[in-house]
Amino acid sequence: MKHLLASVCCLLLAACGGDTPATPTPDPVTPATPSTFPAIRASLIVDPEALPNYAAPTLPAYYAGLIGGPQDNGRTAPVSNAGATLGRVLFFDRELSVNRTISCASCHTQSTGFSDPRQFSVGFEGGQTPMHSMRLVNARFWAPGTFFWDRRAPTLESQTTDPIQDPVEMGFDAAHGGFTALVGRLQGVTYYPELFTLAFGDPVITQARVQQALAQYVRSIVSAGSRWDQGYAQVFNPALQDRGVNTPIPGFTAEENRGRQLFFTPPPQGGAGCSACHVAPTFALTPNSRSNGLDAGETRIFKSPSLKSVSGGGPFMHDGRFSTLAQVVEHYTNGIQNGPALDPRLRGPGGQPLRLNLSQADQLALVAFLITLTDEAMVTDAKFSDPFRR
Ligand code: HEC
Ligand code: HEC
Repeated sequence: MKHLLASVCCLLLAACGGDTPATPTPDPVTPATPSTFPAIRASLIVDPEALPNYAAPTLPAYYAGLIGGPQDNGRTAPVSNAGATLGRVLFFDRELSVNRTISCASCHTQSTGFSDPRQFSVGFEGGQTPMHSMRLVNARFWAPGTFFWDRRAPTLESQTTDPIQDPVEMGFDAAHGGFTALVGRLQGVTYYPELFTLAFGDPVITQARVQQALAQYVRSIVSAGSRWDQGYAQVFNPALQDRGVNTPIPGFTAEENRGRQLFFTPPPQGGAGCSACHVAPTFALTPNSRSNGLDAGETRIFKSPSLKSVSGGGPFMHDGRFSTLAQVVEHYTNGIQNGPALDPRLRGPGGQPLRLNLSQADQLALVAFLITLTDEAMVTDAKFSDPFRR
């Protein structure tokens, strides 16, 4: 019995990296601890011992139950601090394009809610994307979990590697060796074996891990720092059926409050009915939304990114056809076109396209309200910023 205990102790010691004095051996390979990772420290402003909090951010009371709830397309894919950190590095790394000229962040800039101020984005060899870049703020609250304007990517994970393999965007298509070529490249970049170890426990780089990490970073971009958030926090009341979204906000101008009222009030009651599809407090699109009547005869069903930070993320709509929010509001006021994909909420009582006929002042008020959704805190939040020492 004594003998057995002794050998168990030996085993435990060995497993913990301890050495027996009797048999001097070379230093055991200790499992990587956060105090190692020299390449991360050399190349990145990331402190592996004090990663930012992506996993459990402090959110306002009205966000309770949203993360992990039915609206959350990441409910079965939790965010970890190390996973999102790896995703952030990948997101800002130009190594992800064949000729090392662009990163995800080239087309999704933090200052615009992770969209692109250009109507169309420019890929690694100067080619243009056919659609406008999408804001990534609050992307996790689009319940169906399908991505891109036309919803063609079934999950966020699968979406993340599409731009990498796209012949226009980042170029790792079949002609350039596909994803295998990228994995080979990343294996040779000093900080990746360390970052993958931090996130996944070993340095192995796979497409699935790249997808998980990028998706975790994107899902961590949750917006609660706009003027609307500050105001809503004061009038939020979980006991009310509308949870307080229709209560005037103390810090708003009269015009902003008028715009807020129009946004949240259905057309039969004199409002513009926007909140039937763009839902507070995330301003993500409602799952059953169809298209919004941009073109007559449209059969495609598009989604909208969350309207948080929308004012920084123009031009607007899938093809960036509107350069101002005033044009967007004008579209909803008297420009909606009929077609098979048009949503019933944008039809009048007879099924014809809705005509809100808002006054000029009310149109301006709606624009003023949309601007209150701009998350100024997000723009400078260090945990979403470029992690490279450049
Ligand atoms: C060359 C510019 C460009 C690059 C590089 C780029 N994107 Fe995009 N991104 C776009 C455009 C344009 C769209 C909309 C495309 C569409 O719907 O067809 C988009 C859409 C998305 C969406 C969909 C959002 C939604 O709500 O459906 C996500 C997520 C996204 N990009 C993440 C990424 C990630 C992650 C990377 C890096 C691996 C990346 N993008 C690289 C231009 C780019
Ligand atoms: C039936 C649902 C529905 C209603 C109601 C609705 N929208 Fe939209 N909205 C959409 C869809 C879908 C898109 C994306 C359309 C596209 O690009 O093809 C969109 C796009 C937008 C965009 C552009 C987003 C971007 O990233 O470019 C803005 C801004 C917007 N809507 C504001 C409003 C306002 C203001 C109202 C009320 C007057 C409103 N919406 C009413 C469904 C709706």
